[in-house]
Amino acid sequence: MMHVDWKHLALALAILPFAVIFAAWIGFFNVGASSGHWKVTDWFLHFAMRSAVRTYALAVEVPSELPNYAVQTAAGHFPRGCAICHGAPGEPRSPAVLRMLPQPPDLAERVNSWSDAELFRIVKHGVRFTGMPAWPSQKRDDEVWAMVAFLRRLPALGAEAYRDLAYGPVGSLVDRPATFEQAVADCTRCHGADGRGRSTATPVIAGQKESYLLQSLAAYAADRRPSGVMGVVAKAVGRRYWQDLAAHFAALPPPQGRAGAATVLIEAGKKLATEGNPSRRIPACLVCHASRDRNPAFPSLIGQPGPYVEQQLRLFRDGQRGDSGYGRVMREVARPLSDNDIAALAAYFATADLRPTRPIASARDDEVYRSRGAGDR
Ligand code: HEC
Ligand code: HEC
Ligand code: HEC
Repeated sequence: MMHVDWKHLALALAILPFAVIFAAWIGFFNVGASSGHWKVTDWFLHFAMRSAVRTYALAVEVPSELPNYAVQTAAGHFPRGCAICHGAPGEPRSPAVLRMLPQPPDLAERVNSWSDAELFRIVKHGVRFTGMPAWPSQKRDDEVWAMVAFLRRLPALGAEAYRDLAYGPVGSLVDRPATFEQAVADCTRCHGADGRGRSTATPVIAGQKESYLLQSLAAYAADRRPSGVMGVVAKAVGRRYWQDLAAHFAALPPPQGRAGAATVLIEAGKKLATEGNPSRRIPACLVCHASRDRNPAFPSLIGQPGPYVEQQLRLFRDGQRGDSGYGRVMREVARPLSDNDIAALAAYFATADLRPTRPIASARDDEVYRSRGAGDR
C-alpha cells in the first residue's frame, strides 16, 4: 500500500494557493485568445457552464404557454441585442466575432439542446467570463420569455422571414441613427409606419399625447420604466431625437376603436371601466383615460391591443411596470384587480368604441385626480 506522508501533503496543499498566485503574478497563465483553450480547459468550461445552467434552471417557473404573440418584438430586439455576436438567418457572424473565445455559437444550431427553462436562465442572466451579456433589464421576465419563444422558432426561420420579423417594411437596421429619418425607421420596425404596432405586444403610439411619449422614452432609457427592448432602443437612438419622435407619433391619427361584439367578457370589462367597483376600491378607468382634455400624463387606451393592456396591468399589479412620473396612481388602481378583471378590461379596451365625445369623458380628470388625494406627485 502507498505510504501517505500527511505532513508533506498538508504542507503542499497549504502552499498551493500561493504557488498559483505567484504563477499568475509572473504571468505564467496565457490570457491571450489567439491560441484557444487547452482541450481540457475547453471541456471543463463547457461542462461547468452546462451543469450550472441545468441546476439554476430548476428554480425557473415556466409559463404554461410561451408568449408567441410577442415574438415580433423579440425579433426586433435580436439584431441589436444578439445578432451582433450570434449572427442571424441570412446574416453570418462577423470575422471579428469568430475570433472571440469562446466563440458565440450560431444559435439556430444550439437552441434545441436546451430546455425552455435553461434558455430563459441563459438569456436572463448571461454567462460569466464569456461575453454573453445578461438581459438589459432584470426587473421583469415576460420579455425574456418572448425571446425564448423567438429562439424556439430560429432553427426553422429562413432569411426572408427573419428580415420581415426583425426589420418589417424598413428592411434593415441602422445601429446608431444619424438622421431623424433613420430614427423613425428604427421605430417603424416594431411600431409600424402608422404607429399602431406590428403585433399585439406593441402599444399604439399614434395620436398619444406628445409629453406622455417623451416622458416614456426618458423613463425607458433610465430604467425607471423597465423594458430591455425599449431601453436599448431609446438609448441607441439617442436623447437628441426623442422630442421630435414624440411629436411625430403624437401627430399621427389614432385608431378609432372598433365596436366589438358584446361578449360577456367585454360587457364585464365595460362595466368596470365606466363605473369601477367602489366596494372593491376599483375606480372607473375612463375617468382618467378617456377624455380629450385629460391630464397629458394619462395615456389614451383607445384601440390599445388586448395582450399589451393585459401585460401592463399585470406589471402594474406586481409592481414591475415603473412609470414616467404618475405610475403610483396606476399601481394603486391595479392592486385589487383579479386575473379575470384584467382579461375583461383588456378585451374591452381592445374592442371598445371609445371616441372621446361621450358624456363620461367630459369629467375634468385633473380635478378628479386631485380630489382623489392622489395629487401628491
Ligand atoms: C457580446 C456578444 C454576445 C451577445 C450580444 C449575446 N451573446 Fe449569447 N453568447 C455569447 C457567447 C460568447 C456565448 C458562449 C458561451 C459559452 O460557450 O459558454 C453565448 C451563448 C449563448 C447561448 C447558449 C448557446 C450554447 O449552446 O452555448 C444562448 C442561448 C445565447 N447566447 C443567446 C443569446 C441571446 C438571445 C442574445 C440576445 C438577447 C445573446 N445571446 C447576446 C455572446 C453573446
Ligand atoms: C424592437 C421593437 C421596438 C422598437 C424598435 C421600438 N419599440 Fe417602442 N415599444 C416596443 C414595446 C414592446 C413596447 C412596450 C414595452 C413595455 O412593456 O413597456 C414599446 C413601448 C413604447 C412606448 C410607450 C408607449 C405606451 O403606451 O406606454 C413608446 C413611447 C415607444 N415605444 C416609442 C418608440 C420609439 C419612438 C421608437 C423608435 C425610436 C421605438 N419605440 C422603437 C417595441 C419597440
Ligand atoms: C387616477 C387616474 C387613473 C385611473 C383611475 C386609472 N388609470 Fe390607468 N394610468 C394612469 C396613469 C397616470 C398612467 C401612466 C403611468 C405612466 O406614467 O407610465 C396609466 C397607465 C395605464 C396603462 C398603461 C398604458 C400604456 O400605454 O402603457 C393601462 C393599461 C391602464 N392605465 C389601465 C387602466 C385601467 C384598466 C384602469 C381602471 C381599472 C385605469 N387604468 C385607471 C392613471 C389612471
